[in-house]
Amino acid sequence: MIVLASHGSSRLATTLTEELDAELAAVEEDRFPDGEWITRVPPDLEGTVIVVHTTPAPQDENLIKLLITLDAASENGADEIVAVVPYVAYSRQDRRFEPGDPVSFRAVARAISANADAFVTVDLHEPSTLEFFEVPSRNVTAAEEMGRFIAEELGDEEPVIVGPDEGARELAKTVAEVFDAEWDHLEKERISGDEVVIEPKEIDVEGRTVVLVDDMIDTGGTMVEAAKALKELGAERLYAACTHALLTRNADARLRAAGFEDIFATDTVPNPYTVVSAARPVAEAVRELVG
Ligand code: R5P
Repeated sequence: MIVLASHGSSRLATTLTEELDAELAAVEEDRFPDGEWITRVPPDLEGTVIVVHTTPAPQDENLIKLLITLDAASENGADEIVAVVPYVAYSRQDRRFEPGDPVSFRAVARAISANADAFVTVDLHEPSTLEFFEVPSRNVTAAEEMGRFIAEELGDEEPVIVGPDEGARELAKTVAEVFDAEWDHLEKERISGDEVVIEPKEIDVEGRTVVLVDDMIDTGGTMVEAAKALKELGAERLYAACTHALLTRNADARLRAAGFEDIFATDTVPNPYTVVSAARPVAEAVRELVG
């Protein structure tokens, strides 16, 4: 088995190679004078090839590079190709929001499916959208790895694990269950036309250490709003954890300014806060898919 590491995915690809006891090879990339991309793979591939290629910003460039790398693998000897795309761009555009809109994520899923025999991703924004892929696919979670890290780092403080909204509930539960921590999610309640209250559904956070857990931190807006609410309720210390640390628009500085003591992230996209790897669950999925 050969793992092909694309730019931006080398950290995860390297750990994945160890997990799978595979061979690691690098994808080279270059640009033509008019700006078009070319990616090159070793010309003597054989057997099962795992293309590890994440797609954060610049999303469109990364998606094109992913598609041409899958084609390069197929042209250069791969018998079977598994696309490991730990963060998939456009995953939040998963339905038609307004008349005239596309279902952009379905278009992305179809393009990947046309160029790979199987697909693996990590903590997909809406797990049910895995059905958009037209090849055998797996959506794995890095939440247990994150739970183990938090237990080691903060276990003595008995932190409460909180999802900033209902969508993050399952993630918070999975992280918490690793070390029997208490968990909850925040709920937004509209009191009047211009008054909204955000608070945990069940747990009193006064005086507690709280770790907010979400699938991704993009602009940081969700985490900052959640922090304000938790501070008002008396939370003592705040940490932010996520699978995909996209961190656009100076998000990490905004999080620090909002009172977060640290940010914990995985290696699904390049970021300075990676403390855990998604390689183990990804490797399990790859083994299942290639039999
Ligand atoms: C939303 O449903 C997602 O799970 C994240 O909470 C959201 O995308 C994070 O974005 P931002 O950091 O820009 O608030």
